[in-house]
Amino acid sequence: FQAPILKGKRVVVTAGGTRERLDPVRFLSNDSSGKMGYAVAAAAVAAGADVTLITAPTRLDPPVGTKVVPIESTTELRDAVITAYQRADALVMAAAVADFQPLQMADQKIKKTPGETEFTLRLQPTPDILQEVAAIKQPHQVTVGFAAETQDLLANGQKKLEAKHLDLLAANDVSQAGIGFNSDDNQVTFIQPNGVTDQTPKTSKKLIAQALIKRLAETLASK
Ligand code: C5P
Repeated sequence: FQAPILKGKRVVVTAGGTRERLDPVRFLSNDSSGKMGYAVAAAAVAAGADVTLITAPTRLDPPVGTKVVPIESTTELRDAVITAYQRADALVMAAAVADFQPLQMADQKIKKTPGETEFTLRLQPTPDILQEVAAIKQPHQVTVGFAAETQDLLANGQKKLEAKHLDLLAANDVSQAGIGFNSDDNQVTFIQPNGVTDQTPKTSKKLIAQALIKRLAETLASK
């Protein structure tokens, strides 16, 4: 799989779990390892694309040949995605984006109050990045999303694809052991706008990323 099927194409990939700061030393985040997004970025480089990898902190080395844009919060991710997307042919949103962020970030470390038995943290929803991208999407651009579901994979996936104007959605059932977050393997169901779905076998994130890039290239070519 070294065919230059994305030669000359600009592909933006997001990866990792965003961090929402409460104060200078604490944040809310999730279990995302970034492995799926990094595998997609590597597959896109191998396919000849010019790849921008917008990444939350991970333990991984970025694939050689990518232009790396580090971010932490969902707001920073949103700004980086919107900027890179203007010149992009395709966007793959593999990042595990926080759904909520603290209403305020404290300037100083939050202190315990002696005797206090409860502490309330006020959160607000984060911006939905793919929804914002949908609003500025040009006809030649392709967007791919991921969806981690624990039930009704196909029905929920189809709804998400339509709501976010996606060309492809990779849905995975995170209630199954050994795939998804942090794992080296995954199993996804690709859902397309025409209702066509197909499930990959349980295999490496590398092979899933290659299958995704092949579909992405076909979709770009058909536009
Ligand atoms: O709706 P849900 O969060 O399940 O959708 C998942 C997809 O949407 C992923 O591709 C994720 O990167 C993206 N997303 C986003 N902005 C958010 C939350 C998720 O773009 N605030």
